[in-house]
Amino acid sequence: MEKYLINPNEKIAKICKDIYGNFSEHLGRCIYEGLFVGKNSDIPNVNGMRCDVVNALKDMGLPVLRWPGGCFADEYHWKDGIGPLESRKKMINTHWGGVTEDNSFGTHEFFELCNQLGCDAYITGNLGSGTVQEMSEWVEYMTFGGESPMANLRRQNGRQEPWKLKYFAVGNENWGCGGNMDPYFYSNMYKKYATYVRKYSDDNPVYKVACGPNAEDYHWTEELMKNARRMMNGLALHYYTITHDWSRKGSATEFTKDEYYTCLRKAYKIDEIITRHLEIMNRYDLEKRVDLIVDEWGTWHDVEPGTNPGFLYQQNTMRDAVVAALSLNIFNKHADRIRMCNIAQTVNVLQAVALTDGGDMVLTPTYYIFKLFKDHMENTLLGSYITSGEAGTQSDRLPALTESASMDESGVIYSTVVNTDADSAKAVKCQVADSEVKAVRAEILTGAIDAYNSFEKKDEVKTAPFTAFEKTADGFTAEIPPCSIVKFIIER
Ligand code: AHR
Repeated sequence: MEKYLINPNEKIAKICKDIYGNFSEHLGRCIYEGLFVGKNSDIPNVNGMRCDVVNALKDMGLPVLRWPGGCFADEYHWKDGIGPLESRKKMINTHWGGVTEDNSFGTHEFFELCNQLGCDAYITGNLGSGTVQEMSEWVEYMTFGGESPMANLRRQNGRQEPWKLKYFAVGNENWGCGGNMDPYFYSNMYKKYATYVRKYSDDNPVYKVACGPNAEDYHWTEELMKNARRMMNGLALHYYTITHDWSRKGSATEFTKDEYYTCLRKAYKIDEIITRHLEIMNRYDLEKRVDLIVDEWGTWHDVEPGTNPGFLYQQNTMRDAVVAALSLNIFNKHADRIRMCNIAQTVNVLQAVALTDGGDMVLTPTYYIFKLFKDHMENTLLGSYITSGEAGTQSDRLPALTESASMDESGVIYSTVVNTDADSAKAVKCQVADSEVKAVRAEILTGAIDAYNSFEKKDEVKTAPFTAFEKTADGFTAEIPPCSIVKFIIER
């Protein structure tokens, strides 16, 4: 029997709700069709935002949404997306399928979406192909309440008051699609652009995010921290889980057990990557003022057969759910230094939480993980530890069990335990230090490693009550099924 210890006396950090954020780009069918269908659509919508997806994301508790890209952000010119629809410029989305972007979803529509979702806004500015003036004016347009050319233009377009812009990134992947810069050049550019990202009011200070490293590029982090740390609030890491490599990523739904473990081993690596980037950041920032952000993460599989390769549309199985749960447990465990994470992407792109087909919508196993984990938001991360052997093959090994535990203000503990083993259940004995446990409830997401929800079978994978446990005086004993994620709610 594995031992699982939770210590409510060890209060580590507050788990910022923004760790549960999403990312939505003008890519494939994410914005258009996935979130926005336009006011004249037959698909039920409010001001153009489709009701089914908005309601699902609200239920999931989405706290923050990143927009407009991604690679798209560094070729997006925000003034093309404001004003009367008929006069908005059309452009080519060169990164993603070469399709026409008609700019019908722009700044006003994005804030309308955030308003309907009840979530905060995270916008990425164009450093790669835009000017300092353009970026500076966008921030003025969104956040200045007084009399100025941009604030007046906003009013002319129908919005009196400034919006609340919580986060603003100065470029995206500027080591790659955002301009192919080296870290010295980017850190100077960052400082130049960030200088003009002004704070227009004390109530609406813009939290500035610098482009961070690609996966294991520790040199990038070192140089950014050395040269530009004083002007940033957060540094944004990107890490994708790719089962094989960029030329042959592997199918989202048809994979072997070996490939399941390869994928999980690669997902689990983000813990080491985060730890090493934080070690570098902490060396330059003894006060730990600059937060780590992971504003793109998730699985990247081959597109579904027959779909546009530039649209990055993939299905989503229990394997993806395990990746999401492993990752969220890791982010929780780093809550003292991680402020925000944004899974790529919300709808119809990469590791989406929802898929749509015309007016139809299906929720993915990843969606159910976000819903299961949402109780952790804003709770206090507790010290916890689980013993566990390893799962996997000879070459792809990772812990069989991972977990994180948090406590809300009334002292209730939420614990999310993942069993990565594809075949074996794990017996666990949980003890909560210095506690008399009054009641335990639990919920599970489980299924075959390649189980998924399709438009024909929407409920193949969904959460269910979990009862294979026994409450003890100071915790519980449980049998965690293979390939499953269980949330325990522990009342004391
Ligand atoms: O999420 C898809 C793309 O992946 C983003 O546009 C880019 O930032 C990253 O390379």
